[in-house]
Amino acid sequence: MRFDELERRYEEAQAALARAETPEALESWRTAWMGRKGAITALTRQIRDLPKEERPAFGQRINEVKAALEAAYEARAAEVKAEALAQELAEGAVDITLPGRPLNVGHLHLTTQTLREIYAIFERMGFEVYEAPEVELGYYNFDLLNIPPYHPARDMWDTFWVDDDLLLRTHTSPGQIRVMRERYPEPIRVILPGKVYRYEQITARSEHQFYQVEGLAVGRHITMSDLIGTLTEFTRMFYGEHRRTRVRGSYFPFTEPSIEIDTDCILCGGKGCPVCKYTGWLEIAGAGMVHPVVLQNGGYDPDEWSGFAFGLGVERPAMMKYGVKDIRLFYGNDLRFLRQF
Ligand code: PHE
Repeated sequence: MRFDELERRYEEAQAALARAETPEALESWRTAWMGRKGAITALTRQIRDLPKEERPAFGQRINEVKAALEAAYEARAAEVKAEALAQELAEGAVDITLPGRPLNVGHLHLTTQTLREIYAIFERMGFEVYEAPEVELGYYNFDLLNIPPYHPARDMWDTFWVDDDLLLRTHTSPGQIRVMRERYPEPIRVILPGKVYRYEQITARSEHQFYQVEGLAVGRHITMSDLIGTLTEFTRMFYGEHRRTRVRGSYFPFTEPSIEIDTDCILCGGKGCPVCKYTGWLEIAGAGMVHPVVLQNGGYDPDEWSGFAFGLGVERPAMMKYGVKDIRLFYGNDLRFLRQF
C-alpha cells in the first residue's frame, strides 16, 4: 500500500512540476512537495510505521524518488528561465526595418565660417594668426597705442572697464604691441582675430560684442601701397573679382597717415540704400601706417622699420555677403537663423 501511495505521489509531483510555468509556481511546488512539510517528506516520516523488513526497500525507493524529483525540478527551473528570457527578448526586440531617429548634427556658426574664410585669404598672402587677450590692460588698449589718458580720442571707444587698469579690449589693436614686443627684431606679418567689446547701444548695425581681425606687417620697406594692395586683394578674394574699393583719408591715433577702405555697397550695388546710408559705399576697414610712437612702444626703431596695420570687422562683411539685415541675429541663438548658413 505504502509503495502504491509513493508511486502515485511521485506521478502527481511530476505532473504538478510540468504545470509550473513561472519562478513563483516553481517555488510553491518545491514547498508543497519537497519542503519540510511537503508531501514527499511526510512519506519519509512513515518509514518508522512500517514492518522492519520493508523499511530498507521503502527508504531506498523514497530516496530514488526524491533524487529524481530534485533533478526534474532543476531541469524544469532551467526551462522556465530560458522561456522567460526568450519572451523578454521577443518583447524588447528591435525592428531593424524601422527608419532610425535622425541625429542633430551641428555646424560652424556663421561668424566662425567667416573668420576661417578670412584666415584662408590672409594665409595665402603669408600672414600667420596671432591670438591676444580679450581682457586687456588699459595701458595696452590705449596708452601704448598713442592714446594718452584724457586724450579725447579715447571717446572713439566706449569702454567696459573691469577695474582702474583692466578693461575688455575695445579693439584688437593692443595685440599689435604684444606681437611686436614678442617678435622684435623679426619682421612681422600677422593677423589678430578675436572678440572686442564696446559699451554701446545695441542696434541692427552694432552689437556691444563683436569680432575684429587686426592685421599688422612690420618690415624695412613697407609702404602705403603694400597696405592698399593687401586690402584690395582681400576684398576681391572675399567678395569677388568685380568689387570696387575706395580709399579715404581718416584718423586713428596709432596710424599715420590713416585711411579707411570702403567697397561699393553689395546690397544696392552702389545706388544708395539705408544700409550704406545712401552713399553707395560701405566701410570695411580702418587702417594706416603704424605710427612711429607705436613702433617705438613695440620695440622697433621707426627710423629703420615701417609697417602697416588694419582692423577689419567680421560680422558686417558677413552681413553684406549673405544679405543679413540685423547684426543681433548673430548671437540671438535662433536656430531658424543659424541653420541657414
Ligand atoms: N582699431 C581700430 C578700430 O577699432 C581699427 C584700426 C586698426 C585702425 C588698425 C587702424 C589700424 O576702430
